[in-house]
Amino acid sequence: MTGGGRPRVVCASANPHKVAEMAAILGDRLELVARPADAGEVDETGETLEDNARLKARAVAAVADADALADDTGLEVEALGGAPGVRSARYAGDTATDADNVRRLLGELTGVTGEGRRARFRTVVVLHRRDGSELVAEGVVTGRIAEAPRGQGGFGYDPVFVPDEGDGRTFAEMSAADKNALSHRGRALRALLERLDPAAPDGPGGA
Ligand code: IMP
Repeated sequence: MTGGGRPRVVCASANPHKVAEMAAILGDRLELVARPADAGEVDETGETLEDNARLKARAVAAVADADALADDTGLEVEALGGAPGVRSARYAGDTATDADNVRRLLGELTGVTGEGRRARFRTVVVLHRRDGSELVAEGVVTGRIAEAPRGQGGFGYDPVFVPDEGDGRTFAEMSAADKNALSHRGRALRALLERLDPAAPDGPGGA
Protein backbone atom coordinates (compact mmCIF):
# COMPACT_ATOMS: atom_id res chain seq x y z
CA MET A 1 0.00 0.00 0.00
CA THR A 2 1.41 3.40 -0.85
CA GLY A 3 0.53 7.02 -0.14
CA GLY A 4 1.79 9.68 -2.52
CA GLY A 5 4.15 7.06 -3.94
CA ARG A 6 5.69 6.35 -0.56
CA PRO A 7 5.34 2.98 1.16
CA ARG A 8 2.93 3.38 4.05
CA VAL A 9 3.66 2.00 7.51
CA VAL A 10 1.70 2.30 10.73
CA CYS A 11 3.68 3.76 13.61
CA ALA A 12 3.46 1.44 16.61
CA SER A 13 4.41 4.20 19.06
CA ALA A 14 1.83 6.34 20.80
CA ASN A 15 4.48 8.74 22.17
CA PRO A 16 3.94 12.00 20.23
CA HIS A 17 7.59 13.07 20.65
CA LYS A 18 8.82 9.79 19.21
CA VAL A 19 6.29 9.90 16.38
CA ALA A 20 7.36 13.42 15.40
CA GLU A 21 11.03 12.42 15.39
CA MET A 22 10.34 9.27 13.38
CA ALA A 23 8.31 11.19 10.78
CA ALA A 24 11.02 13.83 10.41
CA ILE A 25 13.80 11.24 10.08
CA LEU A 26 11.88 9.10 7.57
CA GLY A 27 11.05 12.19 5.51
CA ASP A 28 9.73 11.30 2.11
CA ARG A 29 10.97 7.68 2.16
CA LEU A 30 8.06 6.23 4.14
CA GLU A 31 4.61 7.55 4.96
CA LEU A 32 4.11 7.08 8.70
CA VAL A 33 0.46 6.80 9.71
CA ALA A 34 -0.90 6.92 13.25
CA ARG A 35 -1.62 3.69 15.09
CA PRO A 36 -5.32 2.74 15.33
CA ALA A 37 -7.03 4.17 18.42
CA ASP A 38 -8.12 0.66 19.43
CA ALA A 39 -4.58 -0.77 19.33
CA GLY A 40 -4.33 -0.44 23.13
CA GLU A 41 -1.18 -0.62 25.23
CA VAL A 42 1.30 -3.34 24.32
CA ASP A 43 2.94 -4.87 27.41
CA GLU A 44 6.70 -4.55 27.06
CA THR A 45 7.50 -7.91 28.61
CA GLY A 46 10.56 -8.67 26.48
CA GLU A 47 14.06 -9.17 27.86
CA THR A 48 15.69 -7.02 25.20
CA LEU A 49 14.97 -3.87 23.20
CA GLU A 50 14.57 -6.02 20.10
CA ASP A 51 12.03 -8.29 21.83
CA ASN A 52 9.96 -5.28 22.86
CA ALA A 53 10.16 -3.55 19.50
CA ARG A 54 9.05 -6.80 17.86
CA LEU A 55 6.14 -7.23 20.30
CA LYS A 56 4.91 -3.71 19.54
CA ALA A 57 5.35 -3.99 15.77
CA ARG A 58 3.54 -7.35 15.58
CA ALA A 59 0.65 -6.27 17.82
CA VAL A 60 0.00 -3.06 15.91
CA ALA A 61 0.43 -4.74 12.51
CA ALA A 62 -2.21 -7.30 13.52
CA VAL A 63 -4.74 -4.70 14.68
CA ALA A 64 -4.13 -2.37 11.73
CA ASP A 65 -3.75 -5.16 9.17
CA ALA A 66 -0.85 -3.22 7.74
CA ASP A 67 2.91 -2.98 7.89
CA ALA A 68 3.97 -1.55 11.25
CA LEU A 69 7.14 0.11 12.52
CA ALA A 70 8.12 0.03 16.20
CA ASP A 71 11.01 1.54 18.14
CA ASP A 72 12.29 0.52 21.56
CA THR A 73 14.96 2.57 23.26
CA GLY A 74 17.13 2.19 26.33
CA LEU A 75 19.66 4.36 28.12
CA GLU A 76 22.71 2.38 29.28
CA VAL A 77 24.89 4.01 31.91
CA GLU A 78 28.44 2.84 32.62
CA ALA A 79 28.44 3.32 36.40
CA LEU A 80 25.13 1.48 36.66
CA GLY A 81 26.31 -1.60 34.78
CA GLY A 82 24.17 -0.73 31.75
CA ALA A 83 21.01 0.19 33.68
CA PRO A 84 18.35 1.37 33.24
CA GLY A 85 18.59 -0.27 29.78
CA VAL A 86 15.47 -2.13 28.72
CA ARG A 87 13.76 -0.79 31.89
CA SER A 88 14.38 2.88 31.07
CA ALA A 89 10.68 3.79 30.84
CA ARG A 90 9.90 2.41 34.30
CA TYR A 91 13.18 3.24 36.05
CA ALA A 92 11.48 5.22 38.83
CA GLY A 93 8.43 2.92 38.99
CA ASP A 94 5.54 1.69 36.88
CA THR A 95 3.86 5.10 36.73
CA ALA A 96 7.06 7.15 36.52
CA THR A 97 7.12 10.38 34.55
CA ASP A 98 10.14 11.51 32.52
CA ALA A 99 11.02 13.90 35.37
CA ASP A 100 10.83 11.06 37.93
CA ASN A 101 13.16 8.91 35.83
CA VAL A 102 15.67 11.74 35.37
CA ARG A 103 15.58 12.47 39.13
CA ARG A 104 16.27 8.84 39.97
CA LEU A 105 19.10 8.65 37.43
CA LEU A 106 20.81 11.77 38.81
CA GLY A 107 20.31 10.43 42.34
CA GLU A 108 21.97 7.11 41.45
CA LEU A 109 24.90 9.02 39.96
CA THR A 110 25.48 11.27 42.97
CA GLY A 111 29.22 11.43 43.56
CA VAL A 112 29.98 9.65 40.25
CA THR A 113 32.39 11.60 38.05
CA GLY A 114 34.34 11.12 34.82
CA GLU A 115 34.09 7.77 33.08
CA GLY A 116 31.33 6.57 35.37
CA ARG A 117 28.96 9.10 33.81
CA ARG A 118 29.53 7.66 30.34
CA ALA A 119 26.33 6.39 28.75
CA ARG A 120 24.74 5.43 25.48
CA PHE A 121 21.29 5.45 24.01
CA ARG A 122 20.41 2.39 21.99
CA THR A 123 17.35 2.09 19.74
CA VAL A 124 16.16 -1.02 17.97
CA VAL A 125 13.55 -0.60 15.25
CA VAL A 126 11.47 -3.44 13.83
CA LEU A 127 9.42 -3.18 10.65
CA HIS A 128 6.88 -6.01 10.61
CA ARG A 129 5.33 -6.59 7.20
CA ARG A 130 2.04 -8.15 6.25
CA ASP A 131 3.83 -11.01 4.54
CA GLY A 132 5.34 -11.90 7.92
CA SER A 133 8.84 -10.73 7.07
CA GLU A 134 10.68 -8.37 9.39
CA LEU A 135 13.49 -5.86 9.10
CA VAL A 136 15.49 -4.99 12.22
CA ALA A 137 18.01 -2.18 12.66
CA GLU A 138 19.87 -0.63 15.56
CA GLY A 139 21.27 2.81 16.29
CA VAL A 140 23.60 3.91 19.08
CA VAL A 141 24.83 7.27 20.30
CA THR A 142 27.48 7.58 23.02
CA GLY A 143 27.78 10.43 25.48
CA ARG A 144 27.67 11.31 29.15
CA ILE A 145 25.11 12.13 31.81
CA ALA A 146 25.12 15.82 32.78
CA GLU A 147 25.22 16.91 36.43
CA ALA A 148 21.82 18.59 36.14
CA PRO A 149 19.02 18.82 33.54
CA ARG A 150 19.46 21.44 30.80
CA GLY A 151 17.12 22.47 27.96
CA GLN A 152 13.43 22.38 27.11
CA GLY A 153 13.39 20.33 23.89
CA GLY A 154 13.08 16.62 23.29
CA PHE A 155 11.68 14.24 25.89
CA GLY A 156 12.64 11.47 28.30
CA TYR A 157 16.27 11.61 29.37
CA ASP A 158 17.21 14.27 26.77
CA PRO A 159 17.83 17.03 29.39
CA VAL A 160 20.69 15.02 30.93
CA PHE A 161 22.27 13.39 27.85
CA VAL A 162 25.29 15.11 26.27
CA PRO A 163 26.31 13.32 23.03
CA ASP A 164 30.04 12.92 22.39
CA GLU A 165 29.71 14.20 18.83
CA GLY A 166 27.95 17.40 19.84
CA ASP A 167 29.24 20.69 21.21
CA GLY A 168 28.44 20.17 24.88
CA ARG A 169 24.69 20.79 24.63
CA THR A 170 22.28 18.19 25.95
CA PHE A 171 19.82 16.72 23.43
CA ALA A 172 17.14 18.89 25.08
CA GLU A 173 19.14 22.03 24.21
CA MET A 174 19.33 21.10 20.51
CA SER A 175 16.92 21.69 17.66
CA ALA A 176 15.00 18.61 16.56
CA ALA A 177 17.10 18.48 13.39
CA ASP A 178 20.38 18.57 15.32
CA LYS A 179 19.22 15.81 17.68
CA ASN A 180 17.94 13.63 14.82
CA ALA A 181 21.25 13.97 12.95
CA LEU A 182 23.16 12.42 15.88
CA SER A 183 20.61 10.38 17.73
CA HIS A 184 20.18 6.66 18.30
CA ARG A 185 16.73 6.91 16.64
CA GLY A 186 18.07 8.77 13.62
CA ARG A 187 20.79 6.17 13.17
CA ALA A 188 18.48 3.20 13.59
CA LEU A 189 15.90 4.52 11.12
CA ARG A 190 18.50 5.53 8.53
CA ALA A 191 20.00 2.01 8.81
CA LEU A 192 16.51 0.57 8.29
CA LEU A 193 15.94 2.73 5.21
CA GLU A 194 19.23 1.52 3.75
CA ARG A 195 17.97 -2.05 4.03
CA LEU A 196 14.70 -1.41 2.23
CA ASP A 197 14.94 -2.52 -1.34
CA PRO A 198 14.53 0.63 -3.43
CA ALA A 199 13.74 -1.49 -6.48
CA ALA A 200 10.78 -3.22 -4.81
CA PRO A 201 7.50 -2.26 -6.54
CA ASP A 202 5.73 -1.52 -3.30
CA GLY A 203 8.56 -0.87 -0.83
CA PRO A 204 8.22 -2.57 2.55
CA GLY A 205 4.73 -3.80 1.78
CA GLY A 206 5.94 -6.02 -1.00
CA ALA A 207 3.76 -6.99 -3.93
P1 IMP B 1 10.52 3.40 25.05
O1 IMP B 1 11.35 3.08 23.87
O2 IMP B 1 9.31 4.21 24.65
O3 IMP B 1 10.18 2.19 25.88
O4 IMP B 1 11.34 4.41 25.95
C1 IMP B 1 12.16 3.99 27.02
C2 IMP B 1 12.54 5.19 27.87
O5 IMP B 1 13.56 5.92 27.23
C3 IMP B 1 11.40 6.16 28.18
O6 IMP B 1 11.61 6.64 29.51
C4 IMP B 1 11.62 7.27 27.19
O7 IMP B 1 11.17 8.51 27.68
C5 IMP B 1 13.13 7.25 27.04
N1 IMP B 1 13.52 7.65 25.69
C6 IMP B 1 13.18 7.02 24.54
N2 IMP B 1 13.72 7.67 23.50
C7 IMP B 1 14.38 8.73 24.01
C8 IMP B 1 15.11 9.80 23.42
O8 IMP B 1 15.25 9.93 22.20
N3 IMP B 1 15.65 10.70 24.27
C9 IMP B 1 15.51 10.60 25.63
N4 IMP B 1 14.82 9.64 26.23
C10 IMP B 1 14.26 8.71 25.42
